[in-house]
Amino acid sequence: MVRQRSINEEKIGTCMSTPVAQRFAGKVAIVTGASRGIGLAIAKRIVAEGGRVCITARKEEALAEAAATFPPGTVTSLAGKADDPEHRAAVMDHVAATYGGLDVLVNNAGINPFYGTTMELELGAARKLLEVNVIGTLGWVQAAYHHDGLAFKERRGNVVNLASVAGKVPSEGIGFYGVTKAAVMHLTMTLAAELGPEIRVNAVAPAVVKTDFAKALYEGREAEVSADYPLGRLGVPDDIAGAVMYFAAADAEWVTGQTLVLDGGLLSAGGTA
Ligand SMILES: NC(=O)c1ccc[n+]([C@@H]2O[C@H](COP(=O)([O-])OP(=O)(O)OC[C@H]3O[C@@H](n4cnc5c(N)ncnc54)[C@H](OP(=O)(O)O)[C@@H]3O)[C@@H](O)[C@H]2O)c1
Repeated sequence: MVRQRSINEEKIGTCMSTPVAQRFAGKVAIVTGASRGIGLAIAKRIVAEGGRVCITARKEEALAEAAATFPPGTVTSLAGKADDPEHRAAVMDHVAATYGGLDVLVNNAGINPFYGTTMELELGAARKLLEVNVIGTLGWVQAAYHHDGLAFKERRGNVVNLASVAGKVPSEGIGFYGVTKAAVMHLTMTLAAELGPEIRVNAVAPAVVKTDFAKALYEGREAEVSADYPLGRLGVPDDIAGAVMYFAAADAEWVTGQTLVLDGGLLSAGGTA
């Protein structure tokens, strides 16, 4: 169900309280997996800089609650699974009908339902990881690229994918998740080579960011885990949103195919996620 907030529904959020650059004025973005965590922070930053967003996630109620925290008229939401082709098509139709075009696609939705060795990983779970994290990412780009009503090429749109440091170096317990994120980085380069000059494609690769997703990696031992990070702390969603904003904005108009590692120095110090 599409939900559009009314002008009277909510006051402007706190992210609008200080003046910020308006790099996304007139721009339209889709951010998948944006009812909380990194995706929500990205969507908030795009809106704070003048853009409008369509946010997605599976759980309709949580998504509607997240949408209600945006300033009026800046957000719409559509619930569905990132790995469902019908959902992707519905989002593209909705964005075309509502906004008349698309400028930024942030492939943020990602899963890691399993912690353990790759020898213990059931192949069905491995397929699901690939389906959401890799095929889903490609499917969203294809859906945007082929939708005439979005004019994604004509508007010189761009894509930002969520990878992970687990895709740079093997990480204990989340090995196959890392395989899917390595694929996302390679896909980012492949798409960048294919889709230029009109469309840019970049990625970010965070280490541990404090969200529901990563709780198992730090909860109850945050000080111990943070000690591996030269910058002395774990990431927060805004650390990632800032970098996504750089790639998505005109600041990066000569940048494509890149993955920016956002890890508080973890990999440089020989650490793993
Ligand atoms: N947090 C980290 O440490 C970290 C590090 C590296 C990379 N990343 C990547 O960053 C991205 C966001 O992670 P996060 O930490 O922000 O996670 P999060 O706080 O758990 O948020 C995940 C968001 O995605 C939605 N989602 C999950 N599975 C989905 C699916 N199959 N289809 C559609 N929406 C889905 C969730 O809502 P519903 O549950 O309602 O669907 C939620 O809105 C992921 O791609 C993750 O791999 C995270």
